[in-house]
Amino acid sequence: MRRVKNCHILEMLLSQKRPHLSFHTPGHKRAGADITELCYSDNLLSPHGVIARAEEDIAKIVGAHAAFLLTDGSTSGVHAMLLALREAGIIRIAYPKTAHKSVKDACWLFGLTGVEIAAPSLPYPRQPSMEAIREALANADALLLTSPDYYGNFPPLKEAAALCEEQGKPFVIDGAHGAHLHGTPLYAGNFAEMWVDGAHKSLPALTQGAAVFARDELWTKRLKAAVSRCRTTSPSYPVMASVEYAYKYPRNVKIERMAEALKREINAENNADWTKILVPFGTENARAERYLQKKGVWAEFNDGNFLMFYLSPCTKTGELRRLKALLKRLPRGPLTLSSNEEGARGKRTRLVPLKEAEGLVSARECGLFPPCVPLISEGERITKEHIARLSAAANTFGLEGGNILVFEEDA
Ligand SMILES: Cc1ncc(COP(=O)(O)O)c(C=O)c1O
Repeated sequence: MRRVKNCHILEMLLSQKRPHLSFHTPGHKRAGADITELCYSDNLLSPHGVIARAEEDIAKIVGAHAAFLLTDGSTSGVHAMLLALREAGIIRIAYPKTAHKSVKDACWLFGLTGVEIAAPSLPYPRQPSMEAIREALANADALLLTSPDYYGNFPPLKEAAALCEEQGKPFVIDGAHGAHLHGTPLYAGNFAEMWVDGAHKSLPALTQGAAVFARDELWTKRLKAAVSRCRTTSPSYPVMASVEYAYKYPRNVKIERMAEALKREINAENNADWTKILVPFGTENARAERYLQKKGVWAEFNDGNFLMFYLSPCTKTGELRRLKALLKRLPRGPLTLSSNEEGARGKRTRLVPLKEAEGLVSARECGLFPPCVPLISEGERITKEHIARLSAAANTFGLEGGNILVFEEDA
């Protein structure tokens, strides 16, 4: 592990006194770094020691008024931001059709009305246009955008922020995939009132390590109250320490440049995020994935058309060279595209085996996990391609043991 200076939580954990006879949680009793809130280790709900110092430093690094460490992933940050909006009296939130399920779950939990922004979903989920954002925002009181998304694309951030400002509506960003952008012009914090960073995805933090931020004092007050309702009361110290470490970890300009060059050389998608290399294998996708896995190379996901390779400042140049050599060898096929025909919605629903569902209308969002955005939306007619992609996926959401929930339709 690379040494990074002034990591308050990590240094506290490393300087623990020995012996340490544990008569406290966690139950494994091997105190080590996985401790609970003790007199010297501070407290995430009312920080005043090392955690407070870490949060202050992180806020300064990213240019926020306040930062809140999260050990429950970006999900709890998305929930907290939407709860903060709810507590500010906002009920209608515009978000892209392709938003992550945590956004839709938060709306459900907090009684918010989601106003979906139309966004292209082929050949993979894309960012909405400014026109679509404007149209949806006319019927909403706040805007949530994902930036960047899992496929490394950005929404029109500057224009959306200006529109929100003009209409006096808060703008929040799900930056689950953008923590590595702090200090750069595309960072969510340059545009939004509140934003969440999934530090564990694109920075060297442990899984579930994230942070949520507020731009000014008023939103800090609201977010602080909301965060305390959305996160665990037993935070993981290794995870918190790793989030602080991740924000203090230096940028790796060499790997950023290599990644951009690699994308051009292998004809990857021309996205704007160096951490996400999206290779269109089309009908050869599954074979390419299997071949790479045999060689010990694991992609972030296979969405049926693309393999996505996720980098971070910790990716090594030799690793990227090996990936390039392997990718160059592999054949590509045409992309398979499914239609988005809208179906009529009935009242009653039933579960049917996925393989028998062609032509029926889905009564629930479902898709591949990751990227955890809907492949089939509620009300959408299920196609042969949907079934093939869901059947071939290693992990899915929205299905129940090989069955899919569909609407009963009048004969
Ligand atoms: C766009 C987006 N938002 C939020 C999340 C939730 O993040 P986490 O898994 O850290 O809770 C994800 C996870 O993949 C995501 O892709």
